[in-house]
Amino acid sequence: MPRLVIEGGRCLRGTIGVSGAKNAALPILAACILNAGVCRIERVPRLRDVEVMQDLLVHLGASVVRDGQSMVVDTRGVESWEVPEELMRRMRASNLALGPLLGRFGRARMAYPGGCNIGARPMDLHLKGLQAMGARITERAGYITAEAHRLTGADIHLDLPSVGATENLMMAAVLAWGTTVIRNAAREPEIVDLQNFLNRLGARIRGAGTSVVKIEGVSGLSDATHAVIPDRIEAGTHLVAAAITGGDLTVTGCIPEHLEAVLAKLREAGMEVAVYDDAVRVWAPRKLRAVDLKTMPYPGFPTDMQAPFMALLTLAEGTSVVTETVFENRYKHVPELRRMGADIKLEGQTAIVRGVPRLSGACVEASDLRAGAALVLAGLAAENTTVVENVHFIDRGYEYLEEKYNACGARIKRLTD
Ligand code: UD1
Repeated sequence: MPRLVIEGGRCLRGTIGVSGAKNAALPILAACILNAGVCRIERVPRLRDVEVMQDLLVHLGASVVRDGQSMVVDTRGVESWEVPEELMRRMRASNLALGPLLGRFGRARMAYPGGCNIGARPMDLHLKGLQAMGARITERAGYITAEAHRLTGADIHLDLPSVGATENLMMAAVLAWGTTVIRNAAREPEIVDLQNFLNRLGARIRGAGTSVVKIEGVSGLSDATHAVIPDRIEAGTHLVAAAITGGDLTVTGCIPEHLEAVLAKLREAGMEVAVYDDAVRVWAPRKLRAVDLKTMPYPGFPTDMQAPFMALLTLAEGTSVVTETVFENRYKHVPELRRMGADIKLEGQTAIVRGVPRLSGACVEASDLRAGAALVLAGLAAENTTVVENVHFIDRGYEYLEEKYNACGARIKRLTD
């Protein structure tokens, strides 16, 4: 298992380019199933989760060829509508194949998903929405089977704005008969990107980015090329890296509008922030102040930034209160940060973080993707050496992380036993 060895205490200065968004690339690659044709997807990050989606497409019968940052996906040969347990276990987002398989073939079968260890993460909203569109769902021995002769448009109200359910239902509705309306839809930028891609294929979707998404079913799609949006969580993580090391980083190739909640908290914590058309510069002239934050669906503060931001708050002056409202069980980084000297108390879904003057290097374990990123950030700021184990979690969502940070003055080595 590879691990990262971080020599802490070095300021990060310079420019970091952002990769394509993992959470946009995954549904877009899954959506290729809907079009029995060839799509070219550009700015696809090299990540383990993307490899799993590639394996999934190939398993179903697609041909996927990587060409630099692009992927050419030919789904003409897809014949299978079953996703094996092994792929579902490797990544929760494999469940994004459900909507497109059902839309194209009228049936899909898959095991319940695995993935990051951050709570129960059920699929009830996906399944209820598909049932409303006429799918028959059977659940047996850990497998879900969905069948429909042809899905029919429906008016669906989501109990909560689930990103994955919104995406799966949008994809299922593209080839359905009639119009589907998804209310209380998630509003994340990745959903807008999925809409833009699907519309390029010939789908008729509007409203993504608002809480009502309308999909008029069409009878067929055609080939298209699409570039994935930049990764706002990756960008946010780099901005925190500048803040936590007292450095000065310009993050380029991002969409600053997608980062507003994170920028607001960085400013509140005392960081200087300059926003350009497609870049953000953050520098740390002052001592950081404690801030309170609550995770919320977009445009609120992203749950995926909770752990990285908490790493920063462990060193801010005063007491911060962090409340996680999106996922239960998303505080696995807390005991690890404590091992580095952080003062954090957990009370249910709330973490009370009392700023300490310094963190010290320790051997810590990543338990999921964003918890892992938080430990890398803490390691950058800590005295002495930090070893982060279970780096495979971090590789799920950050492309060239240590190379990017080392180019800005960090000292991170990857060791493989
Ligand atoms: C996506 C992101 C993930 C991010 C999350 C929230 C991808 C590949 N992953 O995950 O990085 O942390 O959005 O921004 O895009 N829920 C239910 N029933 C359902 C579905 C969800 O109760 O059927 C609950 C979940 O348990 C969770 C909440 O809804 O508490 C939000 O989950 P959801 O938005 O669906 O997250 P994902 O799509 O899995």
